Amino acid sequence: MNTLVLTAHPDLSSSSINQRWFKALSNVTGITTRDLTAIGGPAMQFDPTIEQALLQKADRVVLQFPFYWYSSPPVLKAWLDQVLLPGFAYGPGGNKLRGKELMLAISTGGPAESYAADSYNSFSMSEFLAPFQQTANMVGMTYLSPFVLHSAMGSDQALIEDSITSVISHVTTPELPVAL
Ligand SMILES: Cc1cc2nc3c(=O)[nH]c(=O)nc-3n(C[C@H](O)[C@H](O)[C@H](O)COP(=O)(O)O)c2cc1C
Repeated sequence: MNTLVLTAHPDLSSSSINQRWFKALSNVTGITTRDLTAIGGPAMQFDPTIEQALLQKADRVVLQFPFYWYSSPPVLKAWLDQVLLPGFAYGPGGNKLRGKELMLAISTGGPAESYAADSYNSFSMSEFLAPFQQTANMVGMTYLSPFVLHSAMGSDQALIEDSITSVISHVTTPELPVAL
């Protein structure tokens, strides 16, 4: 399986979690990683021809990011807007992503129990992530269950080390799609 990991963190050098995931995933055979902030630069500009060619080679695409204001950092939105173009991802002739898999790998500061109707974040993670799920639906990709690390604010080294093993396992495991 050929997996493309797109990492969207505004500053990986200051990251405790996503930097470690990025580095660990970069060393796994069959995985290609891309630091979108480094590639897009301050203007967050992407070359759709390059990005689309990499997507076409991938069987599974992983969007990896820290949860910022209940969504992704803006560089991922810029990438989506510039790369998932008509004639490629949707519309007439836009079938190039059909049959591929989409997976999210996310770290959140909030604990798992806060992502519920009766807690301060009010909604579940799957409710917050619905736009990504529907993006997969729209372009014909199979949306897989996301990998989510909660309580990812501290410098708990054991939590970080465990999460590295878990994220590699999740990203590399063939798995069933999320039930709709
Ligand atoms: C601008 C900003 C917005 C954030 N928004 C959220 C949020 O909506 N929900 C949440 O659980 N954590 C939120 N956090 C916490 C981050 O998700 C957390 O710091 C990050 O996952 C840690 O990963 P890192 O070490 O790779 O930066 C936010 C952090 C920042 C800086």
